[in-house]
Amino acid sequence: MFRTLALIATVSVLLTGCVTSSPPQSEIPAPTQQSPTATAAPVPSTPPPPTAVAAVFDTTLYSIDEADSLWVVVDKLRRLSPKKYVPKSLTTMNVPHAYTPILRRDAAKAYLKMFRAARRDGINLVVQSGYRSYSSQVSVYNGWVASIGRNAADLQSARPGHSEHQIGLSVDIAAANRVCTIQACFGRTPEGKWLMHNAPRFGWHLRYPKGKTSITGYIYEPWHWRYVGVELAVELSLTPKITLEEFFGLPAAPNYAK
Ligand code: DAL
Ligand code: ZN
Repeated sequence: MFRTLALIATVSVLLTGCVTSSPPQSEIPAPTQQSPTATAAPVPSTPPPPTAVAAVFDTTLYSIDEADSLWVVVDKLRRLSPKKYVPKSLTTMNVPHAYTPILRRDAAKAYLKMFRAARRDGINLVVQSGYRSYSSQVSVYNGWVASIGRNAADLQSARPGHSEHQIGLSVDIAAANRVCTIQACFGRTPEGKWLMHNAPRFGWHLRYPKGKTSITGYIYEPWHWRYVGVELAVELSLTPKITLEEFFGLPAAPNYAK
């Protein structure tokens, strides 16, 4: 118990550190991001089978390699380029949060819509952690390593340059009552269940599903949601527990390259 509490305290402190290292608003340039719904392929009235990937999800629309792309895939084998990439349109949201809730502009708009829809359903969501800079991720990752060792840390915290939080399109979501924050049991809370049922229609994908550690390299994280746009998120939701690696035909990434 003490070990668990100590770990939570350590990680909380580290996440606080990540907020202070976010870029000041004056350094954030005017948004240039196109609305994903303006350019992505339309969703057919009859959804295609999950195997019809290439026909609908043309990766010339959105690259899976470019850090600025809505569909960029970042994992243990796919480091961000540049390593210390900073998104162009970071926005601080006016929503309940544990740490300053910063996301890329398109993801922030989608989060706000989802947050309001959840509230109408009596579900109160809190941003636990949004954008984290490269240096924030250094602190977070090193904190986990110090607490639980490198092997265990690698199953739940990305090494700097390999975290989706650094692209500003991922958010860790908690319940306002703080039950099961950043724990597997969050998936069984009303908030976790609401997200599973509703997040895809707002453009969010569960990036680290249960039982997919051999592909993603990470344990089940029912709190970690990745914005990919509504069209792709809805398509992904047709196949339970599908990962971006599987969908885009990429190699499994359980470990870092040597
Ligand atoms: N917890 C996820 C893997 C991250 O650190 O980006
Ligand atoms: Zn996360």
